[in-house]
Amino acid sequence: MTNRYRLLVENAKQVVLVCSNGEKYLKSDGMQHLKIIENGSIIVGSNGQIEAVGAADTIKADYSGASFDKVIDATGMCVLPGLVDAHTHPVWAGDRVHEFAMKLAGATYMDVHRAGGGIHFTVEHTRAAVASELVISLSSRLKRMMQTGTTLVECKSGYGLDLQTELKMLEVIQRARHTLPINISSTYCGAHAVPKGKTVAEATEDILQVQLPKLKECMDKGDLQVDNIDVFCEKGVFDLTSTKSILQAGKDMGLNINFHGDELHPMNSAQLGAELGALAISHLEEVTDEGIAAMAKANTAAVLLPTTAYILRLPQPRARDMLKAGVIVALGSDFNPNAYCCSMPIVMHLACVNMRMSMPEALAAATINAAYALGCSSSHGSLEVNKDGDLLILNSTR
Ligand code: NIG
Ligand code: FE
Repeated sequence: MTNRYRLLVENAKQVVLVCSNGEKYLKSDGMQHLKIIENGSIIVGSNGQIEAVGAADTIKADYSGASFDKVIDATGMCVLPGLVDAHTHPVWAGDRVHEFAMKLAGATYMDVHRAGGGIHFTVEHTRAAVASELVISLSSRLKRMMQTGTTLVECKSGYGLDLQTELKMLEVIQRARHTLPINISSTYCGAHAVPKGKTVAEATEDILQVQLPKLKECMDKGDLQVDNIDVFCEKGVFDLTSTKSILQAGKDMGLNINFHGDELHPMNSAQLGAELGALAISHLEEVTDEGIAAMAKANTAAVLLPTTAYILRLPQPRARDMLKAGVIVALGSDFNPNAYCCSMPIVMHLACVNMRMSMPEALAAATINAAYALGCSSSHGSLEVNKDGDLLILNSTR
């Protein structure tokens, strides 16, 4: 974000760079050994980018005559890169707390979905909502994310499933991008569910022949900025063949492939993503060993979502197996009406306790690797010169 003033944060007890050699991602070894400067300072230029970062003494000597618009004394504090949330569904209307009661009584996620609830419930309410209402709720959700340290967030459409509502959702995301001091990576997720009354083939046809061409037109005219394409590849939702054709069509339009796969059933989504050159696949609770190997080889990031496994009582995502196999592991909140958590610190905590990641691994997964999953790791995810100056200053002494 452009801050329009030159900022010096000095004398921090620690400046956690995460990495320092322009790495686009960290795999297992790198995640365990994050780059840290003890007693460090950092300068953010008026263009919003990091101008210098290093030992406090060195910065003091090198910039002795320099003037700053703002100086923060970070004595005793810790500076981190802003957190990156690599998977959210933050645009929707309609409360689904009644479904939580159904699930507590034994219904599965797909039981609720098949009965016309879940995503279908939210689609009904989101279609009926006016854009201004969605802008207000999105803004308040994004502000809550910022309060817990998120500075870059992926935001999906996907509660429209028709052209008009999908575009409405993407426009709402675009408005937030221009009005709030948070960076957004925007995802078209028109294949989030098969709309009621349609077959998979009809829904796929509508996406390929109607929704994607119109989306491309809006992007070409500069009316919409969309970065990624997503499909919910799952038994009873989009099968492997329809997923492949939708993702490929999105890729041909210049979108990054970043989709939901192998969540409730092993679908070979991981192998498909690797074959298509996907930047990232989310969930993966049911991924196979072959899928993990394919993702490691293709450098397709795994976006793991501990809140979903928690709320749906799914098997834990296989973070340790993935790290061991050389997969790029990232984290996301999966904020949505079913998994209602905006906080990346809680996500990192769950990743440590339930998925057995170490604290440095969780931090790398919520910074540089999450930025990689969004195609943004050359500008976000670590404290390096010329990257965006999105910092968290933690006063851990209080
Ligand atoms: O990532 N699995 C599919 N999509 C979302 C849930 C969306 C919803 O239930 O509204 C997820 O968990
Ligand atoms: Fe999701």
